[in-house]
Amino acid sequence: MNVIRFSDLCAQGKARGQRVFIRADLNVPLRPHAPPLRGSLPPEGASAGLGRPGAVLDDSGWEITEDTRIRASVPCIRMALEAGAAVMVTSHLGRPTEGDFKPEDSLAPVAARLGELLGRDVPLVANWVDGVSVQPGQVVLLENCRVNKGEKKNNEELAKKMAALCDIYVNDAFGTAHRAEGTTYGIAQFAPIACAGPLLAAEIDAITQALANPKRPLVAIVAGSKVSTKLTILKSLSANVDQLIVGGGIANTFMLAAGLKIGKSLAEADLVGEAKAVIEAMKARGADVPIPSDVVTAKTFAADAPAEIKAATDVADDDLILDIGPHTAARLAARLKAAGTIVWNGPVGVFEFPAFEHGTQVIAKAIAESDAFSIAGGGDTLAAIAKYGIEKDVGYISTGGGAFLEVLEGKTLPALEILTKRAAA
Ligand code: 3PG
Repeated sequence: MNVIRFSDLCAQGKARGQRVFIRADLNVPLRPHAPPLRGSLPPEGASAGLGRPGAVLDDSGWEITEDTRIRASVPCIRMALEAGAAVMVTSHLGRPTEGDFKPEDSLAPVAARLGELLGRDVPLVANWVDGVSVQPGQVVLLENCRVNKGEKKNNEELAKKMAALCDIYVNDAFGTAHRAEGTTYGIAQFAPIACAGPLLAAEIDAITQALANPKRPLVAIVAGSKVSTKLTILKSLSANVDQLIVGGGIANTFMLAAGLKIGKSLAEADLVGEAKAVIEAMKARGADVPIPSDVVTAKTFAADAPAEIKAATDVADDDLILDIGPHTAARLAARLKAAGTIVWNGPVGVFEFPAFEHGTQVIAKAIAESDAFSIAGGGDTLAAIAKYGIEKDVGYISTGGGAFLEVLEGKTLPALEILTKRAAA
């Protein structure tokens, strides 16, 4: 990766006494405390996090349900502090309305958790665009950057003001690297130095190892409800991987493409042609898309719906396919164990329901037991990794959701593009 690395600047003593602005991705899922501290009942679906509903609770009214991104941001902050820098950290949280700060947009719960992890107080600074007071050896958290007017559209005036706050800009926000916003792109154009933090660098290094220089066979698992949301990924991977394992609603569309019946399962009949094209492209390279030979079905989509294992050729008109069957799972597990590199995005069944989790569990275990270098990313995938306790056995777990998917699509991430440009200038 051709960018300036913050770790190199620190090692060379170049961060000492400097004002360092770190763009982290601290966009973590939150839910209101129970019982809420002030008034209103927890809103429905509040624990889902990233797009939080607008309950009006005060700063301490929210609790973090999953703090991976905060923990992943700590090494960069520590690195800056140990290097003797005056450290400013910011992040977005959710998708607030610019210029209209609401209590639920606040990074206050994040500041508290960051303080615990760093073992020091992390003051939260509001209205910071025109000036921040911070001394070498100190760290402050700058309030939700997406509340600043012009952030999302990467307004140049805002970017220049933010750049003037620092001597060194560090992008350590892989999860937001697919956004060309004020704190991910504009500030990098105008800051005296713009570089990549250790998390961003590690993500890119892992992805490069998996996709640009993979040990073969390279096996990708792409699962999820819709082919349409992952079509570009499927096409892009079909030109590179040796085996493309599809799961979930995507697998159903591929089963249709293979001439199988899928009952009333989720699928996109209009994309069968695209699925066929992916299968053909893979075949032409001597690679393949393994189609399930058996499946687990139910008559309704419910945790307590009776599950039935059947051959993929026996799916009835009123069946819903909710998981791959045991033979398919075992066949795929054998391929994963023999792989050189594995890229994993998406569970292969409705793993949240115990009756339909077997396929995902077998896949997870096979990845954990494989000698292959593995990289995994995406919200549901991370939930599956956590459920089966295989965190330590996956080569690299990405903190990116949308950003990880865009890399798999073969796109250049804007945040990386500007850092590369700055390094070349
Ligand atoms: C994410 O949660 O994937 C990142 O923080 C990016 O958030 P966004 O989709 O709101 O830009």
